[in-house]
Amino acid sequence: MKHIKTLFFLTTLLFASLATSEEKTYPNVICGHNWMTVNFIKKVQPKVYAEFGLSIGSTALEVSKILPEDAEMYIFDFHEKVQDVKQKLYNAGFNKVHAFGNSYKLRDSYNWSLMTILEQHTKPIFDYAFLDGMHTWETDGFAFLLIDKLLKPGGYIDFDDYNWTLAGSETLGPRHFPLTAKLYTNEQIRTRSIKKIIDLLVRRNKNYKEIVKNKIFQKIN
Ligand SMILES: C[S@@+](CC[C@H](N)C(=O)[O-])C[C@H]1O[C@@H](n2cnc3c(N)ncnc32)[C@H](O)[C@@H]1O
Repeated sequence: MKHIKTLFFLTTLLFASLATSEEKTYPNVICGHNWMTVNFIKKVQPKVYAEFGLSIGSTALEVSKILPEDAEMYIFDFHEKVQDVKQKLYNAGFNKVHAFGNSYKLRDSYNWSLMTILEQHTKPIFDYAFLDGMHTWETDGFAFLLIDKLLKPGGYIDFDDYNWTLAGSETLGPRHFPLTAKLYTNEQIRTRSIKKIIDLLVRRNKNYKEIVKNKIFQKIN
């Protein structure tokens, strides 16, 4: 009986660990805060700040210290990261947080959360959007188009990593993370996707004015 119980216990542990490891599709990326973003936010003092892709919350935490008193924050990432950063923000005394987590399914992202926000808001709500998540054309190109619908005139969109490629990534590059080679063509892996989004979607949109080169754009209309 004792052996059966032990076997049952071990089997449960095995399935629990398999379930957890299957869920986390992507490797963890740990980042320090983005000082250009933080310095710019100090100047423009947005009331509603949104961050897409949080990692351990370094930038979100720095931003929370310098936002105006009545400011709100919208945060987006995988469920567990969003909960972790929400808790860190609470611990730091910032509690006006709207947290939007998504699953680790390969085709899931903050774009789904943006759809649920668009369902609830017919007018723009963000003063500042920092897009620093997936960094790929198909996810972040669409994210920009959705964020545009929710960004107030006068608001800012901020991109990280103009020159980033999957090929050069130490976490998502195909040598480190073979799934990348299944998901993307070699051309897509070599292409600077954020550059394509900025060059083709943002710079060609007359509603946007470049404020910080290759990074921060103001929506003027
Ligand atoms: C570069 S890190 C963000 C760093 C953070 N903005 C900072 O400055 O401290 C990228 C983040 O994007 C998130 N991300 C990537 N793909 C995603 C997806 N499909 N859905 C939700 N979050 C995603 C990752 O989990 C990771 O936390």
